[in-house]
This record gives sequence, C-alpha cells and structure tokens, in this order.
Amino acid sequence: MKLFIDTADIEEIRTVARWGVLDGVTTNPSLFAKTSGMTYDEVLAEICRITDGPVSAEVIADDVDGMLREGRHFAKLADNIYVKVPMSETGLEALSRFRAEGIKTNCTLLFTANQGLLAAKAGANLLSPFVGRLDDINQDGMTVIRELVSIVEIHELESEVLAASIRNPLHVTQAALAGSHIATLPFKVFQQMVHHPLTDQGIAQFRKDWDKARQALAKPAATAAGRAAGSRSGS
Ligand code: G3P
Repeated sequence: MKLFIDTADIEEIRTVARWGVLDGVTTNPSLFAKTSGMTYDEVLAEICRITDGPVSAEVIADDVDGMLREGRHFAKLADNIYVKVPMSETGLEALSRFRAEGIKTNCTLLFTANQGLLAAKAGANLLSPFVGRLDDINQDGMTVIRELVSIVEIHELESEVLAASIRNPLHVTQAALAGSHIATLPFKVFQQMVHHPLTDQGIAQFRKDWDKARQALAKPAATAAGRAAGSRSGS
C-alpha cells in the first residue's frame, strides 16, 4: 500500500520524505489554511519539488467551468499534480472533462461505494473515501474501503482507492488489509506508527548496557596506564 501524507506543512512533508516512505501528498483547503506565508500555488510548487509522487490540489469552485479553470491552472504547476474534485453532479462532469484533457484527478469526499463507482466511471484516477468522518457518525468507514476495493478489482476499473480521513495507526493496518491501494495519513499518524513503548524502552536499555560495557572496559586500561606511569617515575 502506498503511503501519502495528508498535510500542506512543508516541514512535515520533508521529514517523511527523508524517512524514505513517502509516496505522495494530499492537500485540501482546510490543511492549506493551517499554513502561513505562502500562497496555495507556492505551497503546491514546493511540495512538487520534494516529491515526484502524486500531489493532490483541491478545487474550490462549485460549477463545472470554475472547477475546470482551477484544475487546469493547478495541472500547469507540475506534472505530478492531481486535481482534487469533490463528489457532486458538477464534480462528476468536471472529472470526465479532466479525463478527456489528460489531467489526473482525485475524487474526494466519498462516503459510499456507489459514489466511488460513479467517480471511477467518470474517470477519477484516485477515489478518496473518508474513513474517520464515517466512524465519527457511528458508521464503519473501513467497510466502504473494503467494498470499493472489491468493486475496483471485480470490474477491473483503472482507479485506485485512497483511504482518507485516517485518524490512527489501526486505520492504516485495516486499510492495508482491506487492499486499499493508498492511504493518506496526518504526520502524527506516521509518528505513531514509528513508535512502540517496547521499541523505545529497548533502545534506551541497549544504550544503557552499551555505556556500562564501555565503562567496564575503560577501567582496567586506566589502571594499567596508571601503573606504567608510576614505574616510569621510579615509584
Ligand atoms: O484529505 C482529507 C481527509 O483526509 C480529511 O481528514 O481528519 O479532516 O476527516 P479529516
């Protein structure tokens, strides 16, 4: 399963890229609103310098012409831009127009497998069901991932399922087991995946034991050096 980071924070993206586990980036207006000092275009261009994986840039317009205008603009920023289009009647029309133009897309705000099926048929390259937001309203978000992965496989659709609104490491494991092609994770979830109390304790213990062993080795050497110095001075 490919791992994307769900953020517009450049430092977070750089960090995960340095770890060697970054396959792409998803952004949205809410994530961009948390950044400061750069325009959305500047943020996207900088992200595309860090990774050559897919980078999702979300349109704001709710009419087809507006979506097309914004999407074409984003697509010119870099070859790896995927235009993120929300599921709606106008969104479907924009997706099919983008497909005809060869512009890659990610259909977002999917909450049912049927919405995902429509988006795939309209030509979306990536299908983004929101797992956490479904869990929030007491519906099983992972069921939509499982259903959509099966639909894509059974009907040999070309789209990839991107598990979004991932809130914790368990979601990542479940999405991977469900066969999701991609999951997009907040930076915090990447960090949570790295750490385990037994790993962290184990590292601390190994360091402690290593220092102890080195000190024990250093002691006889110091004593021998002391004896040699003593004999040279004639004592
Ligand atoms: O990229 C969109 C999605 O991942 C949002 O997540 O946590 O705001 O539901 P969340």
